Amino acid sequence: MDKMRGVISIAELTNDEIEEIFALADGAEKLRTERSASGRIMATLFYEPSTRTRLSFESAMQRLGGSVISCSDMRTSSAAKGETLADTAKVVSAYADVMVVRHNWDGAVRAMAEHADVPLINAGDGGHEHPTQTLCDLYTLRQEKGQLKGLTVVVCGDLKNGRTIHSLVFALARFGANVVTLAANGMELPQYVIERLELEYDYSMAPVSTDDLSAVMTETDALYLTPKQPHQLALFTQVDEVIQGHLNTIASGLRYDAFYMTRKQKERMKEGTTNGSYPTIGPEFLRAKRFQDTVVMHPLPRVDELSPELDKDRRGIYFKQAAYGVPVRMALLKFLFDRREGKAIKRKKKFSPVYQSRGAWTPVPQSKLRGPKGAVVDESTF
Ligand code: CP
Repeated sequence: MDKMRGVISIAELTNDEIEEIFALADGAEKLRTERSASGRIMATLFYEPSTRTRLSFESAMQRLGGSVISCSDMRTSSAAKGETLADTAKVVSAYADVMVVRHNWDGAVRAMAEHADVPLINAGDGGHEHPTQTLCDLYTLRQEKGQLKGLTVVVCGDLKNGRTIHSLVFALARFGANVVTLAANGMELPQYVIERLELEYDYSMAPVSTDDLSAVMTETDALYLTPKQPHQLALFTQVDEVIQGHLNTIASGLRYDAFYMTRKQKERMKEGTTNGSYPTIGPEFLRAKRFQDTVVMHPLPRVDELSPELDKDRRGIYFKQAAYGVPVRMALLKFLFDRREGKAIKRKKKFSPVYQSRGAWTPVPQSKLRGPKGAVVDESTF
């Protein structure tokens, strides 16, 4: 990992590093007592709304004994006068030891990192990635299920625009979990995510036989992603409603460990395209015997895709997932500060990943970074 870059993509953290962060999160209380970030400053720059990510980062830094500087609303920052992202990154680098940035453009945080002199953490860039949400998701799964390897996680909803999904499926594949995707109609996983899964993790895709998936096939085409690694099984489908019916139809032998629901990302959709059916999870879903040990996760905020009636069920763990944002982000900040100082962290051996990351993704050239509406973003754009 480039110690100056921070974390822009989940791919920049190896499995070992993720485990180091989890070990630190397990000891978050100790980090608090030790005031591990005393004297350090974190800047939060959120060009898009946030509750969990921003406040949990700010809480994490304060619990570590550090300080936080922020713009309450980036529309009242000098961005409103036309300051470029590159200049903002350079300037704020002089005021803080780490920057946490959310932006509505895919690739904007990476572009800012090129101009910053301190590590940047991607708190969500457009519909691209949200790596620290994935850390919280993996940590939650590990706390609930004991390990990641071999779990089967259904990801559901807006898989096209949901940045949490993109980071999550890469990480799940790396840790040897199985992934079933249930996309709302027209919101399937982007091709670049599928291609990376194929190239980096040896997943391959094949059409599902009509016999296996007759109920699904009547609604839409379905795709079956079969990994080349024998220990992995991943099933990719494209369906848009009546989840339980579909799940009863597909891969009936699978044990579903977690159901990861997402909201429709209306803010990333063109006007006039936000209507249409969208999957929902209600209590009837959890009454099915096959889901008796299936935990329900959601990065939140939810809109109406997840019934509040699930809040009381032991399997509805999304508030716990949000709460883990503090220890996990405390751990990440401590990890990054230690890395800058060249300190190695002794890792607790809790479980073994199936295989190691093959290193960071090749960074996308800046000239290829997409801006809003798919425009190419380069330095001159900022
Ligand atoms: N999960 C998540 O990113 O929530 P916020 O948008 O509230 O930060």
